[in-house]
Amino acid sequence: MTVREPQGPAVLTLEEKAALVVGAGFWQTAAIGRAGIRSITVTDGPHGLRKPRDGGDAIGIGDSVPATCFPPAAGLASSWNPTLLQRVGAAIGDEARAQNVAVVLGPGVNIKRSPLCGRNFEYFSEDPLLSGELGAAWVQGLQSRGVGASLKHFAANNQETNRMTVSAEVDERTLREIYFPAFERVVTTQEPWTVMCSYNRVNGVPASENHWLLTKVLREDWGFEGLVVSDWGAVDRRVPALEAGLDLEMPGPQRDSTEAIVAAVHSGELDEEVLDAAVARVLALVEKAARPQPASAPGSPGHHTSTAHALAREAATESIVLLRNEGSLLPLRTAQAVGVIGEFARTPRFQGAGSSQVNPTRVDTALEAISAVAPVEFAPGYAFGRGVDPAPLIAEAVAVAQRSDTVLLFVGLPEGDESEGYDREHLTLPLVHAQLIAAVAAANPRTVVILSNGGVVSLEPWHDSVPVIVESWLLGQAGGSALAALLFGSASPSGRLAESIPLRLQDTPSFLNFPGENDVVRYGEGIFVGYRYYETAEVAVRYPFGHGLSYTTFEYSAFEVARDGSRAAVTVTNTGARAGADVPQLYISAPRDRLVVPRRELKGFDKVVLEAGESRRVEFALDRRAYSHWDVRASRWVVAGGDYVVELGRSAHDIVTSATVRLAPPRPGMLTLDSRVDEFLRHPVTGPILARAAGGEGTANVLELVASMPMRRLMRFPGVGESFSRIGTLIAVANNPVVRGIASWWARVRGR
Ligand code: BGC
Repeated sequence: MTVREPQGPAVLTLEEKAALVVGAGFWQTAAIGRAGIRSITVTDGPHGLRKPRDGGDAIGIGDSVPATCFPPAAGLASSWNPTLLQRVGAAIGDEARAQNVAVVLGPGVNIKRSPLCGRNFEYFSEDPLLSGELGAAWVQGLQSRGVGASLKHFAANNQETNRMTVSAEVDERTLREIYFPAFERVVTTQEPWTVMCSYNRVNGVPASENHWLLTKVLREDWGFEGLVVSDWGAVDRRVPALEAGLDLEMPGPQRDSTEAIVAAVHSGELDEEVLDAAVARVLALVEKAARPQPASAPGSPGHHTSTAHALAREAATESIVLLRNEGSLLPLRTAQAVGVIGEFARTPRFQGAGSSQVNPTRVDTALEAISAVAPVEFAPGYAFGRGVDPAPLIAEAVAVAQRSDTVLLFVGLPEGDESEGYDREHLTLPLVHAQLIAAVAAANPRTVVILSNGGVVSLEPWHDSVPVIVESWLLGQAGGSALAALLFGSASPSGRLAESIPLRLQDTPSFLNFPGENDVVRYGEGIFVGYRYYETAEVAVRYPFGHGLSYTTFEYSAFEVARDGSRAAVTVTNTGARAGADVPQLYISAPRDRLVVPRRELKGFDKVVLEAGESRRVEFALDRRAYSHWDVRASRWVVAGGDYVVELGRSAHDIVTSATVRLAPPRPGMLTLDSRVDEFLRHPVTGPILARAAGGEGTANVLELVASMPMRRLMRFPGVGESFSRIGTLIAVANNPVVRGIASWWARVRGR
């Protein structure tokens, strides 16, 4: 094959081509000096750069070059603010370029199927639209700096238990509607430079060898033209992986892989064109990385550590979700004596453990930041590590609580309770944290609980015992100062839950099917993930998806939806006494036709910053896809006809106003003798004729009785065959393109 490189064309040998599709190091691609092909460096992210130091160990966790640590995805997602994500992506891009990194390995857009997944802190949401919008914004920001993204982990990597081997058994509709759309949105709108395949198997086939996934869906359906890279160590059999569409195996070098490729081409088992296509994509990636890039703007975060830190603080502030604020206890006045309790205030947990761990440029602690604005007395309340007697620590905390006007109580999941590599088995806080809450809340009724956790924790049984609960997730390196600003009111909370907080683990939809057995996990809940399940099955949760309070209040008025459903708009007014940001959420409740559908699904959102008294008109665009479901039989997105309720709400459970849109049924499908009787009955041409042939009014019931029968079988019933003797002609008429066109036009007119 001929390769055009800066140094001129060169013909690569088979061995050189085989070497190019396998990494040359833990983080480097192969260089072929004689052909002018250079190596590029890829490293982890995605909430900051994790570039192992030169000369350090290859994996480099905990020993990477200092970089700004932004809030991990669980935090960032709660901002519901794509613009913020885009700015964070751009800042990480600037830091990556400064370190000569070509590709940052993120974002992770896997769906939070179960709150137990150990890596949920690295993922955005239980909802595909929110995950996709935020992932796309981050990629846009990163790639605008000339650094490529690696959209991961494709696909159905929703647990850590046996992540390298487990087979996720998921039906196609569920994949298309829940687990794919975030990937699809990023791919189709941002053209990420790379997509990373996951470790697990998908319906029995390893993702790295899954042709349907890597070629049919990713390239043919979505038009992906970038490079597919393996997760680190996800490839068992290099040749089948290459044939499936996996371009680059990482890490390398792997002699057995390169030798297997060479042997397979020689034996004729592997078509050399398949290898050439993968090589071309590796070269295209190297070429993209070499393009001159726009210098980062002076004053942009990538230029100065302090500017990046300020952006990290802004991101942290928007990531915090105020769950409960009885009696408007928050914001606090600075004059009062504040008891700060909990080791997390002094030693924050600000990111998750595993491959994404960033070495921060600095870390703000809440204790320092709060002490700077109010008189503070501190008690650790608990210690990390085993074997520390908590009784004296709790007694000391209670004494502090009794002496304080207000208590800021920091609890959550210590490092080790959640991480990449394993899942949790329950949702509860460590016992000593729960004991501390009970003791402190009894000692001081003005107790504010501030949670630090990557995955959802249960707020039971202590929820009602405290007036205020702040979910602060993991907030990155500036979380401490962001919290102080928010608690004392120099910022107003604007975060919204990107995942539901259940009352009990047993209530979660995947409860009976997580994490599976015998290396197989069945996604038995299907499309009913997160709020789609709670809202449909009417299962109570502690806090619904989308929930979050503010220090001000917002009202919605003049909600309008275009007749054809393509647009919706609402006026949001800040009716309180101070500035704040609201997140109006648009859901659609589809009619139940042939397919089972969730009670409602998120189809749009916006984040609106408003001064006190200010109003803004917010518009939402709704395309056909917003009304579609994946039809497995037709193998495409289909809009069923009927009444769709477009709902505007503050959360998935708190719908404020709605409007109905009537959509015409799709052009009728082709009929055959194998079509079911109900398909004949619903068909605009055959329906009325059959009803009449069967005896007119009143006999529709009889036909409904046999509605699920294929016509061919009904015809075998004595007497029926004769009355339907002209069914063949009827089918031919109904399938005639002109008749179908007129029929669907008529259905549309009637639907108006
Ligand atoms: C993780 C990826 C990561 C890669 C490189 C894998 O174990 O699953 O998310 O990018 O390692 O560190």
